[in-house]
Amino acid sequence: MNAPAKSAAAPAFDAYDETYAGVVQESVAFSGLSYDFFLRSKAGLLAELMAEHLRGCPAPKVLDVGCGVGALHPLLAPLCGSLHGADISMACIEQARRDNPTVAYRSYTGVGLPYADDEFDMTIAICVMHHVPPADWPAFAAELKRITRPGGLVCVIEHNPFNPLTRLSVMRCPFDEDAVLLKCAQTRALLAAAGLSDGQSRYFVFTPSTQPWARALERKLARLPMGAQYAAFARA
Ligand SMILES: C[S@@+](CC[C@H](N)C(=O)[O-])C[C@H]1O[C@@H](n2cnc3c(N)ncnc32)[C@H](O)[C@@H]1O
Repeated sequence: MNAPAKSAAAPAFDAYDETYAGVVQESVAFSGLSYDFFLRSKAGLLAELMAEHLRGCPAPKVLDVGCGVGALHPLLAPLCGSLHGADISMACIEQARRDNPTVAYRSYTGVGLPYADDEFDMTIAICVMHHVPPADWPAFAAELKRITRPGGLVCVIEHNPFNPLTRLSVMRCPFDEDAVLLKCAQTRALLAAAGLSDGQSRYFVFTPSTQPWARALERKLARLPMGAQYAAFARA
């Protein structure tokens, strides 16, 4: 087992178990975009990554680390054979269970993920690492690798610190007070240092649409460090 991935974030997120969606909506409202739009963008990107990188695995076993209240799970579960969620906030996990009865949830202390080695085809962590203390980033990445089977995919989605609107929404969001944003290159280096291979990344959320034309355009722009968010992904 690798060194513990601690976090001081649990008490903060326990307080947002019932209000999480509303708080995020308020912090992005200035952009004219909705929280639902960001959820659909992430689900669209994850669907593309699964189709491209888990070709021989039509019903993947997927873990969402730091899943919070499971807001993405109604969109993510249909893409998975089985979906699992873990978070250090017990209150958020209880809310996630109420909202998504088909998803298997566990809360944990942050001292190592409560799963066996090689258990998942794909492991994701969405907007979690910027709440993990930087000293614990290597251990957090190592845990993502440990629980992902060889050949499986690890994907970290984070805010892009080069996008000024992203920085503004982070400044407006009360639970992002502790956030330390990671550059895409930094996240990729952490995944590589954890022993993951074939690292790639994609910026996304360039346009205010999730229509097919917008997704096609986003794929063309994916290397430009301008999208509101990025996905860094690599093979276990
Ligand atoms: C901004 S929320 C994101 C929730 C969800 N991933 C989403 O995108 O809606 C960050 C979440 O990360 C969780 N978190 C922070 N540190 C963590 C750690 N070391 N392990 C697992 N979850 C953690 C928090 O409790 C919180 O639920």
